[in-house]
Amino acid sequence: MESCKYEAFVCLLLSVALLLPFKTVVCSSSCTFPAIFNFGDSNSDTGGLSAAFGQAPPPNGETFFGAPAGRFCDGRLILDFIAESLRLNRLHAFLDSVGSNFSHGANFATAGSTIRPQNTTISQSGYSPISLDVQSVQFSDFKTRSQEFMQTESIFRNLLPKEDDFSGALYTFDIGQNDLTAGYKLNMSTEQVKAYVPDLVAQFSNAIKNVYARGGRAFWIHNTCPAGCLPYVMDRFPVTAAQIDEFGCATPFNEVSKYFNLRLKQAVVELRKELPSAAITYVDIYSVKYSLITRATKLGFENPFLTCCGHGGKYNYNRSNKCGSKKIVNGKEIVTAKSCKDPSARVSWDGAHFTEAANKWIFNQIVNGSFSDPPLPLHLACQRME
Ligand SMILES: *[C@@H]1O[C@H](CO)[C@@H](O)[C@H](O)[C@H]1NC(C)=O
Ligand SMILES: *[C@@H]1O[C@H](CO)[C@@H](O)[C@H](O)[C@H]1NC(C)=O
Ligand SMILES: *[C@@H]1O[C@H](CO)[C@@H](O)[C@H](O)[C@H]1NC(C)=O
Ligand SMILES: *[C@@H]1O[C@H](CO)[C@@H](O)[C@H](O)[C@H]1NC(C)=O
Ligand SMILES: *[C@@H]1O[C@H](CO)[C@@H](O)[C@H](O)[C@H]1NC(C)=O
Repeated sequence: MESCKYEAFVCLLLSVALLLPFKTVVCSSSCTFPAIFNFGDSNSDTGGLSAAFGQAPPPNGETFFGAPAGRFCDGRLILDFIAESLRLNRLHAFLDSVGSNFSHGANFATAGSTIRPQNTTISQSGYSPISLDVQSVQFSDFKTRSQEFMQTESIFRNLLPKEDDFSGALYTFDIGQNDLTAGYKLNMSTEQVKAYVPDLVAQFSNAIKNVYARGGRAFWIHNTCPAGCLPYVMDRFPVTAAQIDEFGCATPFNEVSKYFNLRLKQAVVELRKELPSAAITYVDIYSVKYSLITRATKLGFENPFLTCCGHGGKYNYNRSNKCGSKKIVNGKEIVTAKSCKDPSARVSWDGAHFTEAANKWIFNQIVNGSFSDPPLPLHLACQRME
């Protein structure tokens, strides 16, 4: 009852805001998304990198799963909260061939993924070879092959999405952060990094068009986070005191993130024109994460720059001794970068990723549409606004 009233209220607000008659805004009940297909990097990887290159080590997963669960986090990611709130199973990684059930969708994200393919191997730079173009190919292949299996009387029918699930699904994207740091790792200046942002956004748009061409209609796109507030970025690329903002974040990297987001938002406007049946929601994750980091203590968290899982250094982060690192002492294996006592009081899990508590807070901010363009809550994200 409550949620129906809420929907009607949101509907009324939207129609007033847009000066449209009530019926123009399709005020039907919730979208029933039968599945989610996700593309991205570690912010939404639920096991892809682990399947291909080895499990994320303990203490990853300790808070919620009680063991490593393919996520670089102590527990659930924003994507997990999205799936739960749509009453779908948490997504399995497309690459995970053991125990996966794809009835409610598949996850193509891997930690370290970029939009553009990198010219370095994962051991050289840490970037995943499963870039967005590869994820697009995997999605196309997944769609084709799963439909072949659905037509046979095989045991796989119970593990794969139905044909209609592809058109009814929510397609989620969270990628771009690693493309920005990739340039800095190659010693590029901020201007040089900015110069390739249009190319990143063009390739991002191509991925959306590819999904649309295969029947996808509802898109939920996260913009990129304030990279200059992340301990691993601040540790790796120190800036001068004058480049630190009043909250302790490194301004040049946040400027680059904002520039990427500006171009991405413009691209979304173009995509809405080009793809007449697409409902594209642009979600301002940057502002939510910046707000969390800059108001952390007011919100009941501890120092947002101090990681929970790590060892030493200014941020409890050392890139030669990352979360879960081990060494042999007197013939016994010991973990040298452990978890803190109370991960739920920290924002940063390991210097690059957020804790489950932070992810939950972020999810609660975005689910009602207050950071979305158009301002539709998650459960109405199939509705195209004219
Ligand atoms: C990789 O190299 C090719 C050829 O030089 C270049 O066009 C491309 O931009 C490079 N990619 C990246 C991510 O630097
Ligand atoms: C896969 O998940 C779906 C949705 O929860 C469920 O109905 C189905 O039985 C599962 N398949 C198997 C083989 O367990
Ligand atoms: C970047 O600069 C550092 C320090 O000068 C150097 O050691 C490193 O090899 C450079 N990296 C690349 C990819 O040029
Ligand atoms: C980081 O870890 C390495 C390897 O354990 C160690 O040699 C180095 O001193 C550490 N740096 C800091 C700042 O703690
Ligand atoms: C959305 O949820 C957040 C967190 O609960 C709340 O602060 C905000 O006021 C809500 N916005 C709307 C438009 O309901």
